Amino acid sequence: MQQTDSEKKESRFIFPAWANYLLPALALMGIGAATYLPAFVGLGFSAKTLNVGYAPKQPVPFSHAVHAGNLGIDCRYCHTSVEDAAFAAIPPTQTCMNCHEKVLPDSAKIQPVRESALTGKPIEWIKVHNLADYVYFNHSAHVTRGVSCVECHGRVDQMETVTQVQPMSMSWCLDCHRKPENALRPADKVTDLTWQPPDGDQRKIGLALKEKLNIHDPAYMTACSTCHR
Ligand code: HEC
Ligand code: HEC
Ligand code: HEC
Ligand code: HEC
Ligand code: HEC
Repeated sequence: MQQTDSEKKESRFIFPAWANYLLPALALMGIGAATYLPAFVGLGFSAKTLNVGYAPKQPVPFSHAVHAGNLGIDCRYCHTSVEDAAFAAIPPTQTCMNCHEKVLPDSAKIQPVRESALTGKPIEWIKVHNLADYVYFNHSAHVTRGVSCVECHGRVDQMETVTQVQPMSMSWCLDCHRKPENALRPADKVTDLTWQPPDGDQRKIGLALKEKLNIHDPAYMTACSTCHR
């Protein structure tokens, strides 16, 4: 699942940071945009570079709807490091084999998993969410404060193929950093994607948790150095 260096270089090439400035620039150009837009589409303004909706086909048709939804396996069974580390680990083949040694051992869809277990060659999962290297992000900082996976990744437990549902742009991060009370819940409910606030009152529980956890003030949460270190 790790990106190779060459893939990283390639994605930087397709989507340089300054590309974001092109959209407002195009808007300013008004009618001229009609002429310029096709050129940019040609230069790689594809679904891949505009991210929301990005759902690459994976080497194994692994379904979160089946495993996290129907079977109800907790996210942390596979993404073991979300609470302790900046990154959320992708499970090694052995995690799959804990079950698939016995479950559907003859399924053709499981074949690449068995092969990986036999050869020791990891499955090459394709990364869905990709922040630029100049942004610092940390899973544990969010998950241990009660920001649920669903806020950033949507209803993964209903997805056959993981799809990016949030832009993961700077303004998207800042929207929540200014008003985290809209997203806070008890930390032991972060992987319960169907959780609802008591009496439907998110603001009430959010403000209470914000105070209890001593969440940083908006000035700190929106300071450049919080995310660009
Ligand atoms: C505040 C937003 C946010 C929350 C909450 C969040 N994630 Fe993420 N997640 C991200 C971002 C942003 C990335 C991309 C990180 C990067 O490219 O450096 C990501 C990447 C991932 C990845 C790919 C591996 C990695 O670390 O890059 C997995 C797996 C993942 N998240 C699972 C989860 C799970 C499971 C939860 C809940 C327990 C969760 N995430 C909660 C924003 C979030
Ligand atoms: C806790 C047990 C468990 C774990 C762990 C597990 N699976 Fe599964 N998996 C199942 C079960 C049970 C089914 C059958 C579900 C059904 O048909 O409703 C299944 C079905 C599948 C299928 C569909 C097979 C077919 O022929 O339809 C694939 C592919 C799959 N799993 C891949 C994986 C991968 C990859 C991993 C590791 C990332 C994994 N599984 C981890 C229990 C597990
Ligand atoms: C049985 C193991 C398993 C469970 C349980 C599981 N995942 Fe995953 N997850 C994977 C695997 C394998 C991948 C990589 C392949 C893919 O993207 O489907 C993945 C990928 C992801 C990604 C995309 C990471 C990226 O590349 O950017 C997110 C987000 C994610 N999982 C969130 C969740 C959430 C939220 C839950 C709980 C509701 C969960 N997962 C439960 C195995 C699991
Ligand atoms: C849905 C709400 C939400 C979203 C979206 C979100 N965050 Fe956060 N973030 C929080 C909360 C809550 C905290 C915990 C603050 C605290 O502990 O005082 C936090 C903490 C952090 C921290 C740790 C700050 C510190 O020094 O303790 C970093 C870094 C961070 N976020 C970066 C990001 C980035 C980058 C993005 C966008 C890719 C993002 N966040 C999106 C709510 C969010
Ligand atoms: C809450 C996290 C967060 C904070 C705070 C933050 N940024 Fe960002 N910044 C991001 C993210 C996320 C991106 C987009 C990364 C990507 O596209 O992968 C970004 C992108 C950028 C870029 C690249 C150009 C662009 O628009 O994509 C610049 C320049 C930048 N930030 C400057 C700043 C400055 C200056 C501040 C302080 C006023 C700041 N940032 C505060 C998260 C943050």
